[in-house]
Amino acid sequence: MPKKIKPIALVYRSNTKNISTLARILKEGGLVAVPTETVYGLAANALNAKACRAIFKAKGRPENDPLIVHIHSLKDLHQIAEKNSAVDLLAHAFWPGPLTLVLPKKNCIPSIVTSNLPSVAVRIPSHPVFRKLLKKTGLPLAAPSANPFGYVSPTTSAHVVESLGSKINHILEGGACEVGVESTILDLRNPKLPVLLRPGGISKNKIEKVLKLKVLSGNKIRHPNLKSGQISPGLLKKHYSPHTPLTLSDHLKVRSAINSSKNEAWLFIKKPNGVIAKNIFFLSRSGNLTEAAHNLFSVLRDLDSGNWKQIHAEKAIGSDIAVAINDRLIRAASKRNH
Ligand code: TXA
Ligand code: MG
Repeated sequence: MPKKIKPIALVYRSNTKNISTLARILKEGGLVAVPTETVYGLAANALNAKACRAIFKAKGRPENDPLIVHIHSLKDLHQIAEKNSAVDLLAHAFWPGPLTLVLPKKNCIPSIVTSNLPSVAVRIPSHPVFRKLLKKTGLPLAAPSANPFGYVSPTTSAHVVESLGSKINHILEGGACEVGVESTILDLRNPKLPVLLRPGGISKNKIEKVLKLKVLSGNKIRHPNLKSGQISPGLLKKHYSPHTPLTLSDHLKVRSAINSSKNEAWLFIKKPNGVIAKNIFFLSRSGNLTEAAHNLFSVLRDLDSGNWKQIHAEKAIGSDIAVAINDRLIRAASKRNH
C-alpha cells in the first residue's frame, strides 16, 4: 500500500494575481492564512458560518472561544457592529493597528464567530499585504491566530507551515510580523467603562490618554459566564505554550545558567554581558522591549524544537509592551487551563 502523503499548504507571494486568487478562495468559503502586524491569522469570510466553523476545526479550537473580525476601513464597521462615541477617538488614534474593540454585534455576524455572545471583537489591521486582500474581498474576515489551539502563535509563514501546514491549503506571505504579540483587546460596549481584556501592541496607558478615562483591567471584573480568573472566553491561564516545560522568574542569574545541566535553556530578555554559553538565549541584544516582543514567539518556537528538557525564562521590566510580553510568558508557564 502506498503511504498516504499529507497535503502541504502552498505559500503565495504577495502579487496582484495571487491576491485575486486568494480573495476568490475566501469568497467561495475557503480558509487562507494571512500576515498581520501582530501574528499570522487564519482567515475566513466572517459572514459565512460554515467557513468560520472550518477555522475552529483546523485549529482544534473549542467553539466557545470567539474570533476577531478584521475589516479594511472604519466605514465598514457599521455593517457588523454598533459604534459609540469612544470608537471614533480610538480609531483615529490607533487604527489601522494592533487594537481590537469588543462592541455590540449586528445580526449579519453568525453566532459561531462570537460563540453566541451578543458582542463582536473587531479590528482594522495595518499590515499592507493583508489590507490588500481585505480590500479585494470587500468582506469582513474572521481570523484567530494561525496556530493549533493553545500553542505558541506564528509570526512567520514558516511557523504556519510548521504547525498547520497539513490542515490548510493556502498561506499568504507577508514576512515576519512587526509587533510579534497579539492585539490589545478592549471591551468598549460601554464607552464610559472601557475594560482591558488582553494586553497587546497598544498599551493601556495610551488608551487612557486618548479616552481621558481610566481603563479597568479585566482581571478585576467578575462575569457569571466565565470561570474564576478568566476575563474573556478564550483567554485561558494556559496558552501560548511550548511543549517543553517553561518556568518563569522575575529575574534570571547568569551564574545559574552556567552552572545548570546542559539540557536546560535560559531565556534572558537582554543579552547578558560578555557571556557565551550554548544554553543562553535572549530576546533582544540591547534589551529593547519592542524588539523583545517581536522575537518572543519565534524564539519560543526555536527553543521548543531544540532538545531542551526545560526552558527558564524571565519577565520583562517596564510598562507598555512589557505587560504584553509578561502576559504571554505567564500563560506559557502556566500548568493550569483556567
Ligand atoms: O492580533 C490579533 O488579535 C490576532 C490577529 C490574527 O489579528 N488575532 C488573535 O485572535 O489573537 P485569537 O483568536 O488568538 O484571540 C481572540 C480572542 C479570543 O480568545 C477571546 O478571548 C477574545 O479575542 N474575543 C473575541 N471575541 C470576543 C468577544 N465578543 N468578547 C470578548 N472577548 C472576545
Ligand atoms: Mg490565539
